[in-house]
Amino acid sequence: MIARKSIDEVMENARIDEVVADFVNLKRRGSNMIGLCPFHNEKTPSFSVSPSKNIFKCFGCGRGGDSVRFVMEHEGYEYVEAIRYLAEKYGIKLEETKADAETLQAERERETIYKVLDFALAFFKKQLTETEEGQLAGLNYLKERGFRTKTIESFGLGYAPDQSNTLIKEAKKAGFTDEILKRAALMNQHGGDFFRNRVIFPIFNISGKPIAFAGRQMVSSDRGPKYLNSPETEVYLKRKVLYGIYNAKKAIRQEENCYLVEGYTDVLSLFQSGVENVVASSGTALTPDQIRLIRRYTNRITILFDSDPAGIKAAMRGLDLILEENMDVRLALLPEGDDPDSFIRREGLANFQQYMAEQSKDFILFKTQLLLKEAAGDPMRKSALVKDLVETLARIPESIKRSAFITECAHLMKIDEHILVRETNKAITEFIRQKQRGIPRDIAQSEKETQDKIFQEEAKTASASVVGLSELTDAFQERDIIRILLNYGHKEIPDPGFSSLAEYIFASLDEILDDFEHTVYKKIILEYKTMLDESKAISPTHFTNHTDPEIQHLTVELLTTPYEYASWEEHDIPLQIQLHPDENYKLDAHNAILRLKLKVVMQHIAENMNLISKFQEEGNEEDMIIHMRMHNDLIKIREQMTSQFKNVVLKV
Ligand code: UTP
Ligand code: MN
Repeated sequence: MIARKSIDEVMENARIDEVVADFVNLKRRGSNMIGLCPFHNEKTPSFSVSPSKNIFKCFGCGRGGDSVRFVMEHEGYEYVEAIRYLAEKYGIKLEETKADAETLQAERERETIYKVLDFALAFFKKQLTETEEGQLAGLNYLKERGFRTKTIESFGLGYAPDQSNTLIKEAKKAGFTDEILKRAALMNQHGGDFFRNRVIFPIFNISGKPIAFAGRQMVSSDRGPKYLNSPETEVYLKRKVLYGIYNAKKAIRQEENCYLVEGYTDVLSLFQSGVENVVASSGTALTPDQIRLIRRYTNRITILFDSDPAGIKAAMRGLDLILEENMDVRLALLPEGDDPDSFIRREGLANFQQYMAEQSKDFILFKTQLLLKEAAGDPMRKSALVKDLVETLARIPESIKRSAFITECAHLMKIDEHILVRETNKAITEFIRQKQRGIPRDIAQSEKETQDKIFQEEAKTASASVVGLSELTDAFQERDIIRILLNYGHKEIPDPGFSSLAEYIFASLDEILDDFEHTVYKKIILEYKTMLDESKAISPTHFTNHTDPEIQHLTVELLTTPYEYASWEEHDIPLQIQLHPDENYKLDAHNAILRLKLKVVMQHIAENMNLISKFQEEGNEEDMIIHMRMHNDLIKIREQMTSQFKNVVLKV
């Protein structure tokens, strides 16, 4: 373990501007520095670094924190790895606490396991390229499948010879013991090589260390499986690993999307063709740990599976988990008989991209269409189908996003939105009950009480926040904006473009001020704006002493319970760090405005859908098509917005 003293030393020395400057081009702006955010795509800088507070903050994507957090997010490091990185940068020698002999021994052994895995990686690579057997059997096979030298090198592919113990012999010569070879899963029960006569696909962890291998037969035979995978070891926990993540992470961040495929060769083929943001779950079902790994870099996943029943099933299995992690997910099925590897090989990059643009669908459309097809001509199946859908809808933790999907789904299925809302509510309650039942019996009582409290809270928020679009007209969002405006409108914010929070709010609200529905809120906001435009001093007392009793009454209420509405959905957008209060106002305002805009967009979607149905009934195909195009555009806007409601904290 690293000594506390050393960690403190790192924290004292690490200067956020210097740490960030290694990755981002920063320009001075007043007392702060700004640049293009490395965590999301943007053209105008909203990424700000405050040397005096020693923190960074992006006003676009919401990420923020200190130097350690920056390195963790940017490089995908764990806490300790980030500390080691910073220590190296600042030439600080880390003092390790004197662990007991046992821990030290365990650590040394772990290091040795990594060493022997490194040794094996080098061995397999050498076998592939420098031995006759490897070249003839392995390299030829890979080349014939179309993998280029560069790809073979980037993914560290190798070859295991057709002999019983070549690797073991060399490893022992290099000083590795039987025990270590076993613990690294390189030795079989008979003391020989675990992998024989196979091309080797090394599996790397997120920092690029080999932790396991998969070996593929070069000719199909009934001797053993097509792919042989290392079993789990101390350093290889399957549920925490995604094949290809090390090579893909940079592109995933840049593209703001991660393709999820099934196989090793799918990853290689896509990567080699220019689709570098791709990882594979490698035969196992997708796990929450794997999803969180992806979420370090993006909150959007595109699932790409074969269109055979097994592929569809695998895609569906991952779906609910991804939704639970509050990620945006799209799905695409390939033409029958294809996997991503064969598809991109035949069609090329441009066609692949076009296919994705046309065929990838948001999950609700995908699932609904799939289920409708299944239930075609079988009315009895429809209720089972609704049940299946609400199970999925219930997993979406963000309530506005959920409402949006419920609306869309109701239209697609031609069922009453209220019914769907009711059924989803039931499913959520059941979902939470199941979670509760999942608590092990033997956990300490106090812990259980806290858990219960959390579940009760969850239950409360969940049932309170599941509403259909038609019920979203209670002006929650409008009220929240007024609350922030009245309480903090006069405050300065750390953004050189605006002299006060109110200015920022009005700049952001400009195009939807007229969409305010609640008459009193609308009066307040318009009056506020007029005063601001006329540069009059505005204080809350202007409204608390207002001649209009309705305004007066509302203002008093909003000023006396300032936090009530700020937290009405706070589990949707947990703060990553405790923000400086100045920045809190702005984030609060940003989120409130986003919610309001989302509501407006959703209303447009609903109205537009009604029009589509109407034109369809009238047989007016021309107008129907126009409005269907509009629907697609609106959905895109909605997705852009909902993707901003991202969980920046990993809930454990
Ligand atoms: P596939 O059988 O679809 O193979 O298995 P593939 O990826 O297309 O491989 P190629 O193109 O035939 O070489 C999909 C994934 O399932 C796992 C592997 O991760 C594989 O990539 N799998 C498959 C195994 O682990 N063991 C097996 O025996 C087969
Ligand atoms: Mn294949």
